[in-house]
Amino acid sequence: MSYQNILSATNSGITTITINRPSKLNALNKATIQELHDAFDEANKSKSTKVIIVTGSGEKAFVAGADISEFADFDVKQGSKLAAKGQELLFDYVENLSTPVIAAVNGFALGGGLELAMSCHFRVASTNAKMGLPEVSLGVIPGYGGTQRLPQLVGKGRAMEMVMTAGMIDANQALDYGLVNHVTSVEELIPLAEKIASKIMRNSSVAIKSAINSINANYKDGINGFKTEIKQFGKCFGTEDFTEGTTAFLEKRKADFPGK
Ligand code: COA
Repeated sequence: MSYQNILSATNSGITTITINRPSKLNALNKATIQELHDAFDEANKSKSTKVIIVTGSGEKAFVAGADISEFADFDVKQGSKLAAKGQELLFDYVENLSTPVIAAVNGFALGGGLELAMSCHFRVASTNAKMGLPEVSLGVIPGYGGTQRLPQLVGKGRAMEMVMTAGMIDANQALDYGLVNHVTSVEELIPLAEKIASKIMRNSSVAIKSAINSINANYKDGINGFKTEIKQFGKCFGTEDFTEGTTAFLEKRKADFPGK
C-alpha cells in the first residue's frame, strides 16, 4: 500500500511505521489517522510482521497532537464524531492489536500524540521527548482516550495534574511516572526499540496475542480479567506453538514457533 502521510517498512520481522508530516510536527489529521489504521491493519495481518514500532519523522516530534486546523470550527456533533471515529480507527484499534506495538517517542508527544503512544502496548523515549495533554489550554479535553489511559499508566493524581495544568513532562519524569519504560539518546532510540522487539520475536506470537488480550481485559468494563486469562491460558494448549515450545524445552533446543 502507498501512503501520503506515513512511511511503513518491514525488516527482519519488525514493521516500522513513521508518521511523516514533519512540517506540521506530525499532527494527526483525518487522512493520517486513516492511513495509520490501514498500515497497522496490514502489518497485523502480515505473517512477516512480529512486532510493530511506531515513531515520528524529523528531529522535533513524535506527534504534536490532533491537527487543530481540522477541528477548530467543529460543533458539538462533529466534535463527538471526531473522538468516536478516531478512537475506533486508531487508538482502541492499536491497543487491541494482537501484534505487539512499541511507541518510540522521539520528541513532542502532545494531545493525540501522547494518546497514540499510550494506546501502544508500551513506550520507549529519547532524552528530547516531551509529553503532555494540553487540550484544556484549547478549551477542550483529551478525546482519544487520554483521560482513561493516562490515569491507568501514571495514577489518578498525576493524570489530573497533567491534564489540568496542560503542562509537559520530560523523558526522565515520564520514566519516573512509568509512562515510558526506557529513556535513551536520540540516536539509540530506534536501535533500543528494535533490540526489545528482537527479544519479543523469540517468543510465541500466538501466546503473546493471548497475553495482550488478557492484560487488556483488566481495563475493560464488564469483563473479568481473571476469567479471560483462564480462557486464553486454556486456548494456548491447543496451539502448535505450545507443542513446539514445550517440546523444544524438553529436547533442550531453541523453539522455532510456527504461528502468528
Ligand atoms: N495541529 C496542527 N498544526 C500543528 C500542531 C497541531 N497539533 N502542532 C504543530 N503544528 C504546526 C504549526 O502550526 C506549525 O505550522 P506552520 O509552520 O504552518 O505554522 C508547525 O506545526 C510547527 O509548529 P510550531 O508551533 O511553529 O513549532 P514550535 O517549535 O514553535 O512549537 C509546539 C512546538 C509543539 C510547542 C507547538 O507546535 C504546539 O503547541 N503545538 C500544538 C500542541 C497541542 O496543543 N496539541 C494538542 C492538540 S489537541
